[in-house]
Amino acid sequence: MSAIKVLFVTTEIAGLAKAGGLGEVSAGLPPALRQRGIDVRLLMPGYRAVLARLPSIDWGEDLPGRAAIPAGRLGTALLPDGSVLHLVAQPALFERAGTPYCTPEGRDWADNHLRFARLSLAAADIAAGRAGLDWVPDIVHANDWPGGLTPAYMRWDGTSMPTVLTIHNIAYQGNFDAGQRHLLGIPDAAFDVNGVEFHGQVSFLKAGGFYASHVTAVSPTYAREITTEPLGAGLHGLMGGRAASGELSGIVNGIDDSWDPGSDPHLPHHFDPDDLHGKHANADVVRTGLCLRPSDGPLFGIVSRLVHQKGLDLVAEAANDIVDQGGQIAILGLGDPEIEHMLSRASRRHRDDIGVLIGFNEPMARRIVAGSDFTLMPSRFEPCGLTQMQAQRYGALPIAHATGGLADTIADGTTGFLFSTLSPDGLMAACHRAFDAFGDAARLEEMRRAAMARSFGWAAAAAEYEALYRRLLGRPAVLGSAPARAVVMEEAA
Ligand code: ADP
Ligand code: GLC
Repeated sequence: MSAIKVLFVTTEIAGLAKAGGLGEVSAGLPPALRQRGIDVRLLMPGYRAVLARLPSIDWGEDLPGRAAIPAGRLGTALLPDGSVLHLVAQPALFERAGTPYCTPEGRDWADNHLRFARLSLAAADIAAGRAGLDWVPDIVHANDWPGGLTPAYMRWDGTSMPTVLTIHNIAYQGNFDAGQRHLLGIPDAAFDVNGVEFHGQVSFLKAGGFYASHVTAVSPTYAREITTEPLGAGLHGLMGGRAASGELSGIVNGIDDSWDPGSDPHLPHHFDPDDLHGKHANADVVRTGLCLRPSDGPLFGIVSRLVHQKGLDLVAEAANDIVDQGGQIAILGLGDPEIEHMLSRASRRHRDDIGVLIGFNEPMARRIVAGSDFTLMPSRFEPCGLTQMQAQRYGALPIAHATGGLADTIADGTTGFLFSTLSPDGLMAACHRAFDAFGDAARLEEMRRAAMARSFGWAAAAAEYEALYRRLLGRPAVLGSAPARAVVMEEAA
């Protein structure tokens, strides 16, 4: 049987352009799908930084415009891991300084609706065979609100092909003024509660959630949570309906193999579960780097976007307690200036014990995780979360709110500590359990071993996405085929 062909539509790919976890998913999942024999190609905007990073791009056909969406051009490049990447080039929309979504000052680009409609329209044209490629997918897999119009354009164009929308964060929805629909080529009839309309606005995520054949969230718990009012961000009704029809499911992300404490080139000292000297040496490097006093007490690490979602205000409130008990906190983050100030204030109160670094710095992130005994993640909600998986692999037991992917990937009391009451006291209760474990060498070692032994690779997620693609295409797996056996073995290992 011929390989399943998938077009994976994304706005970030780690190594080319990344703002957060989606970039890592787009770098990790497609190669794992390819290993299973799936012919997956990626589509992303031709940002200036991406064009500059790719050594060679084949320029193909012009992509037609629609309404106020300008025409573009399709490029094709080969990534070092062998993946085929298609680029939507549109200089006025994509060739600028800044992140995929924001100006260098951190404000959303005012034309994001046109930018990401341009991306989605290109995906729909590729699906319809209108993009001049000698390759047409069997299925289109879009991500988050910027890809949300992909299934919608396909439906309006009459392209009947299964589509998947993966929601990495339902709180980011891409909602725009209703008048913009005329600029985006949205048919009037689709501006309806059964369509793209959301509280009088045009919503890209609602569009994707409504028109995609199937919706996935990045963990089973988050897939349930988005059907509820507190975490559904207004779309819980739609999500509840899709869940009831069996069209919403959760698949946990993986992390890539570079997260290996025995070989990570960013670590000054390597280590493994049988020899943790390197881990302690990394802790000293982190303490020195953040001007913290030498200590034999536990080091609590935080590597995070500084946004309300991550609940770091609870850490600021619990900081005195943690320090009083002999703990130290190393923080690396970037984001909301108010959250930066709050954490910096805590650090000024305890200069020797709390260090804050503002910035996005991958080597430093890895060192903090490698040096920490515990990793704090009191997220209000967390669709999946990658940091807690990285932390377990590096023996930095996560202390986390039992929500979303945190609840699904941390074994409470075995590989980390979960708490259910989202408050400084709830967080402190979990920290007390962590201090107790820290004081009991045998228990600490047992938990570290259990955490470091967990497998968080991409193979399991790839197997689940393949099963979903096959179900949507009506192409059941051939029993006994090599890829299926490989997964069974991985799961049994
Ligand atoms: P989110 O995507 O919501 O930010 P995730 O836990 O899914 O959260 O992924 C965050 C990723 O970004 C992790 O790989 C983490 O190590 C990395 N990261 C977050 N903040 C920083 C930072 N300030 N410097 C370096 N890496 C960071
Ligand atoms: C989002 C979520 C995060 C998830 C990531 C990748 O950024 O906030 O929890 O891990 O997407 O799916």
